[in-house]
Amino acid sequence: MTDKTNSKTPGLSRRSLLKAGFAAGAVAGTAGAARAAGDPLITEIQDWNRYLGDGVQARPYGTPSEYEAHVVRRDVEWLTASTESSVNFTPLHELDGIITPNGLCFERHHGGIADINPADHRLMINGLVDSPLVFTMEDLKRFPRENRVYFLECAANSGMEWRGSQLNGCQYTHGMVHCVMYTGVPLKLILEEAGLKTNAKWVMPEGADASAMTRSIPMEKALDDCLVAFKMNGEALRPEQGYPLRLVVPGWEGNMWVKWLRRIEVGDEPWHQREETSKYTDLLENGKARRFTWVMDPKSVITSPSPQAPITHGKGPMVISGVAWSGNGRIKRVDVSLDGGRNWKTARLDGPSLSKAMHRFYLDIDWDGSDMLIQSRAMDEHGFFQPTKNELRAARGENSIYHNNGIQTWYVKADGMVENVEVS
Ligand code: MTE
Ligand code: CO
Repeated sequence: MTDKTNSKTPGLSRRSLLKAGFAAGAVAGTAGAARAAGDPLITEIQDWNRYLGDGVQARPYGTPSEYEAHVVRRDVEWLTASTESSVNFTPLHELDGIITPNGLCFERHHGGIADINPADHRLMINGLVDSPLVFTMEDLKRFPRENRVYFLECAANSGMEWRGSQLNGCQYTHGMVHCVMYTGVPLKLILEEAGLKTNAKWVMPEGADASAMTRSIPMEKALDDCLVAFKMNGEALRPEQGYPLRLVVPGWEGNMWVKWLRRIEVGDEPWHQREETSKYTDLLENGKARRFTWVMDPKSVITSPSPQAPITHGKGPMVISGVAWSGNGRIKRVDVSLDGGRNWKTARLDGPSLSKAMHRFYLDIDWDGSDMLIQSRAMDEHGFFQPTKNELRAARGENSIYHNNGIQTWYVKADGMVENVEVS
């Protein structure tokens, strides 16, 4: 039988989609209809239908289906000299919604993953406070706590793409980001417990790992929305993410979110640590470097189709999907272009819209099977939007690595394969 469902009518009706679903078990036009005729997966009883499956407790801690084994974090071996000071990437092209599963959150370590027994972990508050304090994990869990969903993006995300397209897949170009619900104690409460001196203007979190990561954070931010977090997506932090304690610095560059948090020093000026002088600064065309560029500006990427998620179903109805986020607050709008930025359509935002969290967008199209240059452009509630890569380079020069929020282009070919290109 032939079905007219996938004709060129732009506004594909829900009723015709359902009809196709019944007829073919798929919204795949004539190919699907042909399958329905004698598909043994429909006409014959399968083993999983015939025999009992595993009982409860076969997997005391659940893991994904074996058929999802390809959905993993991945690294790029040549990027760094050792795996202890390296990065792997979130498989954005395989995910949906706004929450990153714990086991898929990208990892960035400067000295490997610290292995800490929570019973042996301490958090010290010292410096310009009335009474220096040391907390156990148990102490921290007696403070009032909050649950907040935030994205974390490494300042170096997309850094390889600054001068031109490089890596073939959004996992590699944009995968140094994740979005998680944290449970933790507002840093404000902990600082107030120690009592801030009148000249207390900065805090310096320090990690208990071999890199002893340290950064200077202005007091306004520390008292605003920072959390000392011990849970992610409801369960204990993963070792890779700083178990048993990490700092959450909403909307600001990932480097400041100190993992394995062991100490917070309070001071009257910044400390000018390595990670805020030789690293995590932006070298401009005139040889000067921008410093203390904390906020992660609005950014988005189409996750499907993308080089690792080509179109395999041919022309017809399809979903363009992606994520957007801004360190300034909520995402207000995402536009999608199919022709390299000449024309734009407003995408549909779906799911919760939370400040400084990831947002999911979709554009449902009827693909005519011709080449496309697909792009997305995010705008946040304060009117900040993503620049083209040329605009970015005009403003900040060719030498930068960090804070690349330029518009990404994917070249979708007629055969459905997708490549990383630049048109701006
Ligand atoms: N904290 C410590 N103690 N050690 C580190 O190496 N890396 C930082 C930050 N906090 C790091 C750290 C960097 S550069 C980033 S981008 C984030 O942690 C990465 O967090 P994730 O591994 O949970 O994704
Ligand atoms: Co980082």
